[in-house]
Parts: sequence; C-alpha cells; structure tokens
Amino acid sequence: MSKKLWGGRFEKETDALVEKFTSSIDFDKKLYNQDIIGSIAHARMLAKCGIISKEDAAIIIKGLVEIKIEIEEGNFECTSKLEDIHMHIESRLHEKIGPVAGKLHTARSRNDQVALDMHMYVKEKIHETVGLLDTLAGVLWKLAEKHKNTVMPGYTHLQKAQPVTLATHLKAYYYMLQRDRERFSSALKGADIMPLGACALAGTTLPADREYTRELLGFSKIYENTMDAVSDRDFVMEFLSCASILMVHLSRMAEEIILWTTSEFNFIELDDAFATGSSIMPQKKNPDVLELIRGKSGRVFGNLMAMLTIMKGLPLAYNRDMQEDKEALFDTAETISACLEILPKVLVTMKVNKQNMARAVEDSFADATYFAEYLVKKGMPFRQAHEVVGKMVAYCIKKGKKIKDLSILEFKNFSDLFDEDVVVEERLPDEIINKNN
Ligand code: ARG
Repeated sequence: MSKKLWGGRFEKETDALVEKFTSSIDFDKKLYNQDIIGSIAHARMLAKCGIISKEDAAIIIKGLVEIKIEIEEGNFECTSKLEDIHMHIESRLHEKIGPVAGKLHTARSRNDQVALDMHMYVKEKIHETVGLLDTLAGVLWKLAEKHKNTVMPGYTHLQKAQPVTLATHLKAYYYMLQRDRERFSSALKGADIMPLGACALAGTTLPADREYTRELLGFSKIYENTMDAVSDRDFVMEFLSCASILMVHLSRMAEEIILWTTSEFNFIELDDAFATGSSIMPQKKNPDVLELIRGKSGRVFGNLMAMLTIMKGLPLAYNRDMQEDKEALFDTAETISACLEILPKVLVTMKVNKQNMARAVEDSFADATYFAEYLVKKGMPFRQAHEVVGKMVAYCIKKGKKIKDLSILEFKNFSDLFDEDVVVEERLPDEIINKNN
C-alpha cells in the first residue's frame, strides 16, 4: 500500500479515481517556487523558536533548495498519487533527507500553506501587471502626443457627433488604464497579509513566531484571525475583479481599432506583422490579435464568476472547493499579461490615415455644435441656437451642402446673429475643437 503523508488513520488505499479527481498537481505545480520559499522561511522560524534544531533546519533548507533546482531543470516527476505541489515537495524531501523532513510540517497545515502560496503568487502578479500597464499607458500617451492635431469624428451612439482629435480619443484609454493601475495597486493590500501560522484553522499550541515569518517573507501584516486566514480568498476575487475591469477597457479599445481598420472607416491600417490573412480570401487582412483580446475578456469575466460562485456558499474554514481557485486565477493572470504584452506592439506599428479621419469630419455635420455655440457667444440661449442650427442641418441635407459651405446670406436667413466672420475658407481644427482635454 503506497503510504499517504496523511495515511495514519486509513486502512484502505485511496481509489485511483479519487486520486485523479482530487489531484491538483497538473496546475498547482506553478506554485513550486512560492511553496519552497514559504517552507524555507517556515523552517527558519521553527529553528529560531527552538521547535526544531538549527541543524535539522539547515538539512531541510538544503534539501528544499536542491528540489527547486530539480524542478527547474526538469528532473522532477509528478504523480496524481501525491495530490498537489505541497505533497510532492514534502515527499521528495523525505526521499532526500529521510525522517527529518517530517519536522517541516510542524506548526503548519496545507491550509495555511496553500493560502500563503496564493498570496505570494497574487502579489507577484500584481507587480507584473502594474509594470505592463505602465508600458501600455506610456505607448498610448506618446501616440496621443503625436496626434494632437489629428482631427477625427467623435461618436455617440456610433453616429458622428463632434470633431475631436485622435489624441483626446487615445487619452481616454490612457486614463482608464490609470484607474486600472490604481485598482490593482489597492488590491495589493488584500494580498499582502500573511496567513502562515494559522495552521489548519486554529493556530498552534507550539511557541511559533508568526511575526518572524512575516518579516522573512516580506508581508506587511499577519491575519488577525486564524479562521479568516485560511478561508479568505477575497484577494483572489479582487485580482479577478481588477482584471475583469481591465479587460473591459482592452476589449473596448480592441473593438474600436477593429472598426477603424474596416474599409468602411479606413482610419487605421495594421502592420503586416500584427495582422493575419484568410485561407480562402486572398484580399483579407484580419485584425485577429485585437479580436482575440476582445474575445479573451469572456474567459476573464468567466473566471471571476467562477470564483465568486465557488466561495459564496462555503462554511468556515477551509473546504476543498477552494482548490478550484487556482485555474481561474492562473488563467486570468496569464491572459491579462499576454494581452498587455501584445497590445502596445499593435499600437506602435499601426498606421494612422489622418486624411481619412479628417475627411470623415468634413463629410459630416460634426461641426453643428460649433455653430450653435457661435450663436450662444452672440447672446442666443442655447436651446434656441440648437433649434436654429437643426434647421440649418435639415436645409443643408436638402441642398446637398455642408454648413460651412453656406453663403453669408444663407446663414443670415437662419439668424441675424451670424456675422461675416462665420464664413471662412478653412476653419482651423483649433477653432472647432475643444482641446482642453
Ligand atoms: N491542494 C489543496 C488546495 O489547493 C491544498 C490544501 C489541501 N488541504 C486539505 N486539507 N485537503 O486547496
């Protein structure tokens, strides 16, 4: 009978199907580094408190460091017989150093151990995400600065509304990303609390020093309550929420650029290196990268829903349901990193068709609000000015003209407040565009 590390009270072997069903090693092996770092700190704390000898701690730590190297060099075998990464590492430690390995799991349970690993993983991912967000935001800002005078239609209801600059449009996304950055940074607070020492749920009677482990592992705080420590996954839900809102933003940006690359808009051309072709239609140049960013938002939202649902009915403290937190978290963390990594490259390589953007403004009545505000400056109440210009638009549609092409006589037919200065050869973007933002 293959002995489980928890096998003392069992008389029968675990059914193979149960082993397979309960195993998480296929996905939680990602946590090997956090697990080993956590175990090293724990061993040091046990030795400092005299719970194990300094010599035993040194043997344990040496063994753990060797296991880390084995894993990184691909010399580590995984089996569903050993449930998860914690059991794998502990069992390998037994093989390497014998019964001394059994001392590592003193004043600790897998419940606080897995919670610790998850906290460390989320902390790392928050730092990584904030770095990637800064790069993307920097690219957007630079591109916006380059296009301060690139006039384009601004839309509401996807109908041309008022002229804006591409800079204003791009900076809208820049500011969304700044909020994402703040959101992720504040999620760090929830991740930066150390659960280790809570053990299974009730702490330990041994004279452990959690404060010392906290310091070794660089956490800001310790959980005040041991049951909360092992059953809290708020920090995972927070990360997934921040990621979902971020994906809303990336997906909107992707959708907009996709629209702009269509021949109907023709505002943007993607670089060949960041577009794909069709296997049947030779003329096609498809924005697959952007479509995938838009599509991947679905799985990120799904992971948040999964996590909320996993947690919502759980009695305190640890329940095995919580093992389901990992795939959702890993998948989201990897998905947002991939999206944040590729999007800046799409942006810096794409070509902006300034003329088509300007033409799209010319071909529209996007300057109507400008003329209404002209009348307001001459003293007309805005509601009345709106009505007057509305009538002018209707007149222009009938005549096949644009407002700016009307003669002074035609202007004056609508209101005496129009002066000669309303008719100009060409109106500079500065005049008709609010560039305050
Ligand atoms: N693989 C488990 C998880 O991810 C580790 C904790 C197991 N604890 C237990 N009491 N069975 O949650």
